[in-house]
Amino acid sequence: MQQALAERERSALLRKRVVIDSNHQSVIEVAGEHYISFSSNDYLGLSQHPDVLQSFAEGLSLYGASSSASSVVTGYSIEHKRLEDDICTHTNMQSALLFSSGFAANQAICKTLFSTTNKRSQACHILADKFMHASFIDGAMGVSANAQFSRFKHNDTRHLLQLLDKVPSNEDTLVVSEGIFSMDGDACDLTGIQQQIKERSNNVWVMLDDAHAMGVLGAQGMGTCDASDADAQKVDVLMGTFGKAVGTQGAFVASNSALVEYLVNFSKEYIYSTAMPAAQARATLTSFQIMRKGMEREKLRNNIALFQMLATEAQLPLMDANGPIQGLIIGSPEKALALSEKLKSLGIWVIAIRTPTVPKHTDRLRITINAMHQERDIRALVDALVLAMSSMEK
Ligand SMILES: Cc1ncc(COP(=O)(O)O)c(C=O)c1O
Repeated sequence: MQQALAERERSALLRKRVVIDSNHQSVIEVAGEHYISFSSNDYLGLSQHPDVLQSFAEGLSLYGASSSASSVVTGYSIEHKRLEDDICTHTNMQSALLFSSGFAANQAICKTLFSTTNKRSQACHILADKFMHASFIDGAMGVSANAQFSRFKHNDTRHLLQLLDKVPSNEDTLVVSEGIFSMDGDACDLTGIQQQIKERSNNVWVMLDDAHAMGVLGAQGMGTCDASDADAQKVDVLMGTFGKAVGTQGAFVASNSALVEYLVNFSKEYIYSTAMPAAQARATLTSFQIMRKGMEREKLRNNIALFQMLATEAQLPLMDANGPIQGLIIGSPEKALALSEKLKSLGIWVIAIRTPTVPKHTDRLRITINAMHQERDIRALVDALVLAMSSMEK
């Protein structure tokens, strides 16, 4: 362990936690200093919305701080059920169920659908975008003895087709992508994916991890399907998380009733884990209701547009993304860390994302814009980026 840690330290890849003393409206306090944070996934600022906080408080007084049991014992309350029903109504899915985290949800999908106990008469396949989140990749690798797991080049539907062509037409395939990619911030080509599978739709299911698109995309903020012309029914499995734009914590999987019932009966992540607190489910439902009105989304869009305009004027080499996740590739972990430190000295908190979270030589600054940022915050960010980057060149 010590060797591995020392190796990480030598390569400027060691992760360290930072104690946040307070967090208010995108200003965080660390060791007595205040910073404007551009590293939170609370894209709409809903984690601090008074109505969400009030729902949480009501839930706590009605149900206590814990759900106190698994969902299949006594942990499943009317608040969980209401939230699931609301998700189904607004995503056009038959059925939904809640998990304590998106990580658990992705693991559950892979392990339950493709586990060794699930005896299949024929081979099955998982074809996932190369840039899928670690929670899915890890789950898919864990079942590779049972399902052939391949990755198509990022957002490359022609490569997806080449892989699909190698799959015998009678074998089941799960094609997986992300609504907005967590580290690159670009959106998946759902329509392109659907076109590729049209001919084969009997045996190919499409799954979307919409963690970063929930709340951000669509007229109602219900994510990629809400925003796209693509037929919502063509997404067979939809995963969304609450810990980002929704502003609470946990996740859902929505699909047809058979798949959801199957997870309730066979997913170890679901059965052998305490259900999320009912208060959290209640607050999450309130959050969805606020989210659908769209006020915060409008602010977020304006802030993203302002940042992109100022960054382009300043000739900052932004990655190609139109959502709240904006990246600047730096290329080495040392440089990315040094830039992040320089930004801190200017009162701006932007985290350096390094390999192995992102591919080698694409170490970067991951900047997240949110609806709470003021114009002056975004101007301060761009000024600080220009200063920090020019000081690095010297
Ligand atoms: C794309 C994606 N999927 C899944 C997860 C896991 O969600 P959670 O944080 O709720 O465990 C994340 C979290 O970073 C994510 O970015």
